[in-house]
Amino acid sequence: MTTPINLFEYESIAPQHLSQMALDYYASGAWDEVTLKDNRTSYEHFKLRPRMLVDVSDRDLSTQILGQSLSMPILIAPMAFQCLAHPEGELATAKAAAQLGTAMVLSTMSTKSLEEVALTSKNCQQESFRNQGGIGEKSLVSHPLWFQLYVHRERALTRTLIERAEAAGFTALCLTVDAPVLGRRERDSRNQFTLPPGMELANLATMADLEIPKTAGESGLFTYFAQQLDPGLTWKDLEWLQSLTTLPVVVKGILRGDDALRAVESGAKAVIVSNHGGRQLDGAIATIEALAEIVAAVGDQAEVLVDGGIRRGTDVLKALALGAKAVLVGRPILWGLAVGGSVGAQHILELLRDELGVAMALSGCAKIEDIDDSLVIRL
Ligand code: FNR
Ligand code: LAC
Repeated sequence: MTTPINLFEYESIAPQHLSQMALDYYASGAWDEVTLKDNRTSYEHFKLRPRMLVDVSDRDLSTQILGQSLSMPILIAPMAFQCLAHPEGELATAKAAAQLGTAMVLSTMSTKSLEEVALTSKNCQQESFRNQGGIGEKSLVSHPLWFQLYVHRERALTRTLIERAEAAGFTALCLTVDAPVLGRRERDSRNQFTLPPGMELANLATMADLEIPKTAGESGLFTYFAQQLDPGLTWKDLEWLQSLTTLPVVVKGILRGDDALRAVESGAKAVIVSNHGGRQLDGAIATIEALAEIVAAVGDQAEVLVDGGIRRGTDVLKALALGAKAVLVGRPILWGLAVGGSVGAQHILELLRDELGVAMALSGCAKIEDIDDSLVIRL
């Protein structure tokens, strides 16, 4: 097998490495999957206006998000159940992020515990530091891990999860707000999606004996959300959450300027423009279309990130030109994991990074700060 040379090639090979239930769960969008498709096709409406004769011989893709240094403005989105893609699951993803010097957002619904993921990330960073001839741990660059939160009806669970994430060294909390109930993914209903034997909700199983049920004619995950997660969450709870932690809170799943502003006024340090990869409300606006309004509403009061359909370096460039500080990439990481474990996930990040580097050079940008809104026009 020849090594894939872009993210789409990984996507086309990944099914050979996945069970039908896992593939459907990963690939699905809600209902007619219109938003899932729009997330991609909407990028085509935005055209680049490159600048010429700029010295781009030295290019620097590094950036700072929430004051944390990253090698590039590309993070790994939170995604549940990564052991369905590879036995090492979230540990492999954490290694890939650490190797590349970027952040991973770990899902509440991970199949490896947050403590194991934090330890793996730390060990991997130490190893790569030693390999680079480092002398002491002090100068170790730390590659951030963020923890994504789903708030259970049982609030004590959330409190304990936050304490555990803080103790394990996570550097931000990411509250997902677009899932008061789970979107209907019809392939999952048909498959009666559940986790195979030996796989569990690693953060929750030991704490509360929670598991994904097997439900007749329905996705077990849909049932789990309906039974366990709190559909009554409001802006007040965002304040409650902030009172429980000293970590910066990031709000994920915003699609309107007024909501973004409300999040910031409630103390969020960043918002992620997201429609959950088209998995929640089908018909919701594509994220790249929603971005500019949110950037305008938030101004410089908080950082704006975006995810959904990022598959090429030029997508990243367009998102940054429209005012995002960084992007998050979802499914392609799962395709990389399925094909080649940690190495595959790492290759996905390298491909995107290298494409971004070339796209920047061709647009007259030597560093991330050179990317401005004049580079993009919507046709
Ligand atoms: C997700 N996403 C998600 N988001 C979240 O906040 N918590 C979660 O547990 C999950 N789980 C999850 C599982 C799978 C299989 C997918 C594909 C997605 C949404 C994710 O963070 C992100 O918003 C989208 O995946 C981004 O879109 P792309 O890059 O997949 O197109
Ligand atoms: C999903 C949930 C777990 O999208 O966020 O499947």
